[in-house]
Amino acid sequence: MRAFLTGGTGFVGGHLAERLREEGWQVRAIARNGSNADVLEDCGCEILRGGLESERSLRRGVEGADAVFHLAGVTKGLSEADFMRVNAEGTRRVVAAARQARFRGRFVALSSLAAAGPARRGRPLTEDKRPRPVSAYGRSKLAGEKHVLRARRFLDFTILRPGAIYGPREHEILEAVKLIERLGVSLEFAETRVQMTHVHDVVSGILAAVNSPQARGRTFFLNDGTVWDYANVVDEIGAALGRDVRHVRVPLAGAWAVAGTLDLAGKIVGRPLSPIGRDKVREVAAGSWIADSSALTAATGWKARHGFVQGIRDTVRWYRENGWL
Ligand SMILES: NC(=O)c1ccc[n+]([C@@H]2O[C@H](COP(=O)([O-])OP(=O)(O)OC[C@H]3O[C@@H](n4cnc5c(N)ncnc54)[C@H](OP(=O)(O)O)[C@@H]3O)[C@@H](O)[C@H]2O)c1
Repeated sequence: MRAFLTGGTGFVGGHLAERLREEGWQVRAIARNGSNADVLEDCGCEILRGGLESERSLRRGVEGADAVFHLAGVTKGLSEADFMRVNAEGTRRVVAAARQARFRGRFVALSSLAAAGPARRGRPLTEDKRPRPVSAYGRSKLAGEKHVLRARRFLDFTILRPGAIYGPREHEILEAVKLIERLGVSLEFAETRVQMTHVHDVVSGILAAVNSPQARGRTFFLNDGTVWDYANVVDEIGAALGRDVRHVRVPLAGAWAVAGTLDLAGKIVGRPLSPIGRDKVREVAAGSWIADSSALTAATGWKARHGFVQGIRDTVRWYRENGWL
């Protein structure tokens, strides 16, 4: 089986590439000039230099593929346009390449729970609910989904919407882990509930979707099902690090001001400096980020195998052994 992968130089994409190779797939992946493609090279992927902007690379990537895994995306940006350019327009380009190459396999697009928005009534979202994203990131992921849905007459697709993903090589939750390790402090400005899914479970979910006739033409939430108060997630990170954690409540106005300053500093240097910007504050303050992934299980048989308590301990050990902490 031959796969075409976008986003393979990233956190989730690197794990997917490794797993595909372990399972005997040939993997062709795009990588932008200057991106770190070590994981892709080490596991024996064919690398096509170019980004989502390169029609030629996308065409070459899709040609002859049995499956497309579209994972490339940005999770932080300085403006709505930054998110739209990659998450919406980039997806449109991959879909267009698939059309031009007369691709007939399964197209799996990794969207996000952010495209659906938060669970406002405290109950996990289900796929039948109308999406109500609250952030520029979420709107751009939803716009990307729409490009896939519009192609449904010729494209055999599955859209997956994971929530927060953690595991080795994750680089955004790592910032909170570092703060806890160094200062024993967690800065919190809203009570929110989340689901934390190990990257190996996300990769298994992607593979379950690509192999399942029942997943054809459908959109699924993808998470490990366990709902956590964010403060308890922080306590588990502290336990994994061997540290007590002091929860410091920051007023929302304070968080907004700090995020605004970080956004401004990012604009000055021309790139986002932190995962925490106003877009992220808007998300965290909007409600609980929880969804029901039982439809994916019913369609494909997929189930998560890694609980967060053990998973975060293994992840912290990986960060330490690899010098990330
Ligand atoms: N991590 C999570 O918790 C989470 C949760 C829900 C959904 N998702 C979705 O999962 C996907 C992967 O996320 P991740 O955590 O692995 O992110 P990541 O580590 O930041 O990786 C993003 C990937 O997208 C690539 N990319 C960005 N802009 C590109 C462009 N213009 N052309 C080509 N490639 C481009 C990056 O390439 P470079 O290496 O060149 O930058 C990288 O390979 C994203 O679509 C994200 O929205 C992630």
